[in-house]
Amino acid sequence: MKRPAKIKLFLSVFLVLCSFAAPVFSVSATVFGDVDGDSILSANDSRSILRMSVGIEEITDEMLILADLNSDGDITAADARISLRLSIGLYEEATVFRRGTDADFLGLTEKNYPIYEKNGITYVDGIIIANKTYSLPSAYDPGDILPDCKAAFREMQNAAFSKGLSIYISSGYRSYSSQDSIYNRYVRQDGRSLADTYSARPGHSEHQTGLAIDLNTITQAFGNTAEGKWVASHCHEFGFIIRYPKGKEHITGYSYEPWHLRYVGVEKATKIYESGLCLEEYYGITSKYQ
Ligand code: DAL
Ligand code: ZN
Repeated sequence: MKRPAKIKLFLSVFLVLCSFAAPVFSVSATVFGDVDGDSILSANDSRSILRMSVGIEEITDEMLILADLNSDGDITAADARISLRLSIGLYEEATVFRRGTDADFLGLTEKNYPIYEKNGITYVDGIIIANKTYSLPSAYDPGDILPDCKAAFREMQNAAFSKGLSIYISSGYRSYSSQDSIYNRYVRQDGRSLADTYSARPGHSEHQTGLAIDLNTITQAFGNTAEGKWVASHCHEFGFIIRYPKGKEHITGYSYEPWHLRYVGVEKATKIYESGLCLEEYYGITSKYQ
C-alpha cells in the first residue's frame, strides 16, 4: 500500500535524471521512446527507458514494481507512454513519433495510446484501424488476405478440424471498389441508415485491410453453431478477435457479427479477449462517420 509514495519518489528521481539526459535524448529522440525502433511503444521500450533513466543494466523486482505506473501488476505499453509523457511532455512525444517513424502523430486515444498515420492509414498500438472513424485510402490494396492472417486461419482451421468442426472463409479480402459495389447494393436494398448498421462504406471496411475474414454462413445463427461457439472461445489463441461482438453495437457501430474475425496477432487478441472489450473500447477510440 506504500506504492503511491514509492512511485512519487521514483518519479522524482526519474524526472531529474531525464532532465539531465534531455540533451542526449533530443539528439536521438527516437531512442528515447521507441527504443527498439519498431514504431510501437512496448513494454520492452518501457524497460529500456527505465534502464537508461536510472543508469542500470539490470532491473530489480523492486524497480519493476515502481515502473508499473498504472499499477496493473505488469509493465505495459501504457506505462511506457506515461513515463514518456511525464518525462518529456506531450508535445515532445509528438516529436518523438514524427522523428521515429515517417508517420504523423495524430494524438492520443482516450486510453492514452498514440494514434499515428502513415500513407493515409491509421495505426494504434501498431495495428491498422479501419472503422467508421478511421478510413483507408482507396489506393490501399493488399490484393489478398495478408500472409500472417492466412497462416493463422489455416492453423485455426486445423485445430477446429481436430475437434470435428469445419470452418472456412466465405469472404476475405475486398478491395475499395468491391466494397463500394457491395455497400451501394445494400443501400439500394435497405436504405443508407440501415445499410450503415451492417455494411461498411467503401474505405471503411476491415476487409480492405487484408486482415479480416468472414467464416462460414454470414448469419447471426452462426454464433449458435458448434463452429461459431468454438471460434468465439478459441479464435484469440490464433490471433483473431470477434470484431463486432453482441452488446457492443453502439460502440463498434455495427450489428453483432459472430462470423467476422479480425487478425491482430495472438498477444493482442488474447488481451482483448480477456478484457471483454471490443477493439474500440480496448484502445479508447471511436467508430462514427464524420
Ligand atoms: N460487415 C462489415 C462491417 C463490413 O462491411 O466490413
Ligand atoms: Zn466481415
